[in-house]
Amino acid sequence: MKVGIVGAGMVGSSAGYAIALMGIASSVIFVDRNADLARAQAEDISHAVPFMSSCMVYAGDYGDLKGASVVILAAGVSQKPGETRLQLLGRNAAVFREVVAEVLRVAPNAILLIASNPVDIMTQITVRLSGLPASRVIGSGTILDTARFRSLLGRHLQISPQSVHAYVLGEHGDSEVLAWSNARAGSEPLLSIAAQMGLPLTDDVKAEIDDGVRNAAYKIINGKGATYYGIGAGLARIVKSIAQDQQDVLSVSIVTEHVAGVDDVALSIPRVVGAGGVSADLMPTLDDAEKEALHRSAALLKTAIEAVEI
Ligand code: 2OP
Repeated sequence: MKVGIVGAGMVGSSAGYAIALMGIASSVIFVDRNADLARAQAEDISHAVPFMSSCMVYAGDYGDLKGASVVILAAGVSQKPGETRLQLLGRNAAVFREVVAEVLRVAPNAILLIASNPVDIMTQITVRLSGLPASRVIGSGTILDTARFRSLLGRHLQISPQSVHAYVLGEHGDSEVLAWSNARAGSEPLLSIAAQMGLPLTDDVKAEIDDGVRNAAYKIINGKGATYYGIGAGLARIVKSIAQDQQDVLSVSIVTEHVAGVDDVALSIPRVVGAGGVSADLMPTLDDAEKEALHRSAALLKTAIEAVEI
């Protein structure tokens, strides 16, 4: 399995490192406008490979993406402190107009995995630019927000995040929706587990977790300039599901015909991911407030994509 990564910045390189570390690809190839950066990232990661499973990591040009099963698009700019993801749209849409055509020319059968922000809109732009079916253009969406939610819930309940089943839906951004009403730990609803553990989920605790998830990126960007390890591992997790045809349920973003009362918009809900991309959507049961919040998130994304000319 060959994985291409366009954009060798912190997100692309962290994804490449995580993919190599997880032993899920036979080769990883970096392509970047800055060829020296791509070469340096590939070389650095290749020095880690003798400590892991075998994987060829190298840098090249678009022609070297030939035969890639998955190409991660992590090119473009990322947020500066105080900037929202949506503010990146104009600049990253311009980058994608060039990149998507180049990738398709050599790897028309690859599944495209979009990481650049605002990721939902970049995913929808990529579908428009490529003409590929929506199921084969997957945005990392809220896979990371879901991980942040599970991590904070697990920490509060003193349970591993792997045993927490909870999802963040909608935009990967400020309007995202934490689906509390159907969240579980083990096989039990959260409230029941919280009571059994003697660790109640009070309104204050829930507000703190909501803030920790929704504003995680802003806080990390203030502290170290960018976020990359979390998203790198999330991208590798999606690649694993594709590479091993796992049919995992992951919260990822694809263009969806009808969702939350809005047509033709890319956002995240839990979806089944395997070798062919996304094979099914699994819309969770939500309470009225969550349904309304998901509608608002979908409507906001729809307004943003309608303003983009491709
Ligand atoms: C994140 O949520 C910035 O979208 C990036 O970490």
